[in-house]
Amino acid sequence: MTSYVEISPLSSPISGSIRVSGDKSISHRSILFSAMCEGTSKVTGVLNSDDVQASIEAVHALGAKVDLAKQPDGSLSGTITGWGAEGPKQPDGPIDCHNSGTTARLLMGILAPWDIEVEITGDESLCSRPMRRITAPLMLMGAKFSPDGAENLPITIHGNKNLKAIQYDSPMASAQLKSAVLLAGVSANGTTSVTEPAQSRTHTELMLSEYGVETVANTRFASVEGPVQMQASDLNVPGDASSAAFLCCLAVLLKGSELTVEHVLLSASRTGFLRTLERMGANIEWVVEGSEGKEVYGSIHVKYSPNIKGCEIPAKYFATVIDEVPILALVASHAKGITVFRGCEELRAKESDRLDAIIDGLTELGASAWTHGDDLFIEGDPDFELPDGLRLPSNGDHRMAITWAIAGMVGKKPIEVEDFDCVSVSYPNFIEDVTSLTKGE
Ligand code: S3P
Repeated sequence: MTSYVEISPLSSPISGSIRVSGDKSISHRSILFSAMCEGTSKVTGVLNSDDVQASIEAVHALGAKVDLAKQPDGSLSGTITGWGAEGPKQPDGPIDCHNSGTTARLLMGILAPWDIEVEITGDESLCSRPMRRITAPLMLMGAKFSPDGAENLPITIHGNKNLKAIQYDSPMASAQLKSAVLLAGVSANGTTSVTEPAQSRTHTELMLSEYGVETVANTRFASVEGPVQMQASDLNVPGDASSAAFLCCLAVLLKGSELTVEHVLLSASRTGFLRTLERMGANIEWVVEGSEGKEVYGSIHVKYSPNIKGCEIPAKYFATVIDEVPILALVASHAKGITVFRGCEELRAKESDRLDAIIDGLTELGASAWTHGDDLFIEGDPDFELPDGLRLPSNGDHRMAITWAIAGMVGKKPIEVEDFDCVSVSYPNFIEDVTSLTKGE
């Protein structure tokens, strides 16, 4: 039987200041990149979630020494000693990446330059997500994969010590694809580059330079110079921009709310949700206060915003809001007028088909949402009435589960969210954080 959690309307606004747990993308990279290094890296503020555990388990199975301990704030801190020039060890069995696309896809690039054969697999959702987009460029570099031409995990990678550097013109804006190619390029001879049709998140190219790799990080273009042995580095992970987005949107929708999110990642490739909320007329501002390596962080201040209106998110900015579309779509359903997200086809290839999930869920909520080609349209209605006993599926997708929970928190009737436990993939403390903010802590 499918489990569900009933989320009731919040009886008070959210207020106060909060730090959200570490950024998921940066946490993954801090583990994976440290594992590639010569020497011992020190990491702090790492997100302790199911997805990041998948990366920790993977590098451990491949021979890195991981010594991380849970801190009083719930984060992980400690050291990772990499395999360095010796390379990863042949693991005893398949590497199970669970639900984590970032682990599976980045690992393919990391393993490509080694004389190793590793089967990569995952849960049902991950095994249905497209992988040829990653294996195709890595094959151009000289890696092999079996079964030949497979689109889905499980896939076995057969590495090649003599990888060729490539200049890859990527058919899609995807940070995971770009990262896999650049990570393989670290060991290839010469310049490996990726050009994208639109900018995706830039963490790999920004972070690799902290580990001694010469990189170029421009809009739509990134490159690395290989071969180079990565060297250990220390890193403190700023708060997760995507988790912060949920709290900011909750504050925008919930009467009387006023919230500050501190020490949160604010790199330009992740702040699309802030610019979108600003363009919708929300009471929101943010300020950059420092940087961890090349990743900037700062504070976001946001207030209840009753007069938001629809806006258009052009395709060229789509990747900067990619993980926030579900919650922005919920905000749009409360805004006056129509909101359009252009060029959304990548939403179909996420942990679930998020395009269908958004349209089905918003329709159940009483809003109007539809697609035309690859564009998502939402016509808002600030006053829609929820039916009694509404139950929405998450399809095991963490971002959908939190989105529908927020619909329940800001509505007038409870909503039952199916498989709510999947929030442990990216934001295990979500309910705890909201509860502390309703007490104004
Ligand atoms: C991620 C990149 C994004 C994002 C995913 C995490 C990453 O996917 O949706 O949750 O850490 O590189 P794309 O590969 O579509 O950019």
